Amino acid sequence: MKRLFLIYISFTIILFHLSGINSTQAQSKINQNEIEKKMKWFEDAKLGIFIHWGIYAVKGVGESWSFHNKQISYDDYLKMLDGFTAKNYDPSKWADLIRQSGARYCVITSKHHDGVALWDTRLSDLSIPARTPAKRDVLSPFVDALRKDNLKVGLYFSLLDWSHPDYPEFLKDQKKYDKSKDPQRWAKYLIFCHGQINELSEKFNPDLFWFDGDWEHSVEEWQAADIRKGILEHNPAAIINGRLMGYGDYETPEQNFPVSRPSFRWWELCMTMNDSWGYYPTYLNYKTPYEIITIFADVISNGGNLLLDIGPREDGTIDEKQVNILQELGKWTKKHEEAIFGTLAGLPSGHFYGPSTISKDSSIIYLFVPGKISGDIMIKGLDTKIKEVNVIGNDHSLNYKIVGKISWSSIPGLVFITVPENQQDEYMTVVRVKLENKLKLYRGKGGL
Ligand code: GLC
Repeated sequence: MKRLFLIYISFTIILFHLSGINSTQAQSKINQNEIEKKMKWFEDAKLGIFIHWGIYAVKGVGESWSFHNKQISYDDYLKMLDGFTAKNYDPSKWADLIRQSGARYCVITSKHHDGVALWDTRLSDLSIPARTPAKRDVLSPFVDALRKDNLKVGLYFSLLDWSHPDYPEFLKDQKKYDKSKDPQRWAKYLIFCHGQINELSEKFNPDLFWFDGDWEHSVEEWQAADIRKGILEHNPAAIINGRLMGYGDYETPEQNFPVSRPSFRWWELCMTMNDSWGYYPTYLNYKTPYEIITIFADVISNGGNLLLDIGPREDGTIDEKQVNILQELGKWTKKHEEAIFGTLAGLPSGHFYGPSTISKDSSIIYLFVPGKISGDIMIKGLDTKIKEVNVIGNDHSLNYKIVGKISWSSIPGLVFITVPENQQDEYMTVVRVKLENKLKLYRGKGGL
């Protein structure tokens, strides 16, 4: 009897465990499906524009870091509040320029590490509307303009706030207080920080939250899980970037690009045009349109997005050099739209020496050919018959030749494609390789 009872108990325990595992597995599957669903637009968007706009544009100094690292005193930094006018600010012009670049979304600094909010936050008076001659919420009209232009809205928000009296860190070698000795004060800061995030959710309902500055505190200290929960309760479709101590949806490598294809499911490279995020007129080390297009092609070839930054002036105008880059980029993205948006990451390394993308139905390979070339380009291991090859923007078929195919072997030959000079793009040519069937690749070691 006792034995029977034991067997019964163990059986129930096993059943209990099994049902537990199944329900957690099912739960995480639902979450994963939801994440996949909400990431759809992001995955197809490929290009976003980042905007760093704040009082640092008044003197053209480093955003927030200039006082933190003591290149300028905190008082002098804050004096820039008096010079922020936004007097020539035309939000719809900004949105149009972004649209023109080909970008599908924009991320703007609602508040940087300096704590100066662009909107009329109820939780602090350190804001553009309350403390500058601009005297108005400059974020709302831009969010509206983006939506009017059918662009997704991303809000950058710095978790850390070096200006807030209850935030412990301040200058690089100076703290306001020791958090371990005064947990109440940190708790007060958290209420403020979560409160501002909540305001952003309610007022703007952004498609994407772009957090920054999580590094100064731990996941528990930020209560990162609660931040995520709060955002998703308000809008289950909101995307959260990866700078939330593991509670985000995608990775954000910064400035430096991954050399080989990252293993992350979703990622976005954020990058400046010169050497600064904000307006910094003496930094003239601009990347050329050619360099930016090359980097962009490399990013999408590896399954990522590019978030390219601009830093407007305090009056709301944008430097001609930045405008020019966005326009040149726009010319190129418009012409090559079908090879960029809504495509998949390209051929794995080894098949083609350059960036590429693949159409979602796997029937077209797009090969990105940088600059002006005189020789042929080559594809290795293409195990699907080619229907036609041409250059985007020109419908003439291109000549190609299959080399080294042995009639009785199943190993595909090498494809050599000639791209005539008169069909090449000024920046980067895209060769469209249409296939008879779905793409199949030979990944073997060669031989017979
Ligand atoms: C870094 C910097 C910040 C900048 C951000 C953009 O985290 O602290 O100044 O806004 O990168 O990715």
